[in-house]
Amino acid sequence: MAYNLLKGKRGIITGALDENSIAWKVAEKAHEEGATFVLTNAPIAMRMGEIKKLAEKTGSEIIPADATSVDELTTLFTRSQEVLGGKIDFVLHSIGMSVNIRKNIPYTESNYDYFQKGIDVSALSFHKMLAVAKKLDAINEWGSVVALTYMAAQRTYPFYTDMADIKAMLESIARSFGYHYGVEKKVRINTVSQSPTKTTAGTGIKGFGDFYDYANAIAPLGNATAEDCANYCITLFSDLTRMVTMQNLFHDGGYSTTGVSNAVMQKMGIE
Ligand SMILES: NC(=O)c1ccc[n+]([C@@H]2O[C@H](COP(=O)([O-])OP(=O)(O)OC[C@H]3O[C@@H](n4cnc5c(N)ncnc54)[C@H](O)[C@@H]3O)[C@@H](O)[C@H]2O)c1
Repeated sequence: MAYNLLKGKRGIITGALDENSIAWKVAEKAHEEGATFVLTNAPIAMRMGEIKKLAEKTGSEIIPADATSVDELTTLFTRSQEVLGGKIDFVLHSIGMSVNIRKNIPYTESNYDYFQKGIDVSALSFHKMLAVAKKLDAINEWGSVVALTYMAAQRTYPFYTDMADIKAMLESIARSFGYHYGVEKKVRINTVSQSPTKTTAGTGIKGFGDFYDYANAIAPLGNATAEDCANYCITLFSDLTRMVTMQNLFHDGGYSTTGVSNAVMQKMGIE
């Protein structure tokens, strides 16, 4: 059911790789809710071609941009305003990549070139995006920016390796930039801390399947799906959440505040 929550709003949605991507679901929902937007991803992801289907379905233009490049982000924000016919109302940062995770390197033996690459792609890209938008004055007052994160920023999950530290940085950028952009332009910046979700980035993590089941057994409501996450992002882009900024918002079916559940106790043979 659609509520026209984003009627007349213009957006930029990063990170839709395939139909499992959280960003893909956000784009579908944003379209249903009346928004117009530009889709963007790293040029290498474009070559896989999937994003074109989403662009056709949602009537969107695709503007490739490597989120680590200030020049490409400048082109993205400039072109997006031209294509959409005005300033931007919402931005989704849905970008994450760790070479250390991809290569199964244990946290204590992290390769530092890979670590720095992970920081650049998954956290600094958020700062760069915000800095470019602010410099160009590309976001409308009361505009809303959301980045996706994971609870390993607060609690240790050994298999999440360097991404735990990188997500902590991402969340900190939302607070720090949220202050400055809020004071100057009333732009809101939040992170959404999502349940484990079966996507390319998610399933690339060692032991993801078991962990997914564990989280599902802990959370009173079960794991939140990508579609649920998209619905939540839509509310954050809407005018109904105008005073929410600089927050890390857990979207995880209650997982983050549950110590243990009966379901997990039973799995361990403890009644
Ligand atoms: N899947 C999960 O379990 C989970 C849980 C919590 C948070 N998240 C976060 O959600 C976000 C989206 O991930 P997803 O799970 O939908 O997976 P996904 O693999 O579908 O999306 C990750 C996206 O990042 C893009 N990307 C990588 N390098 C880039 C670059 N240099 N420039 C621009 N884009 C680049 C990829 O092309 C891809 O589209 C990530 O930040 C991820 O950490 C995922």
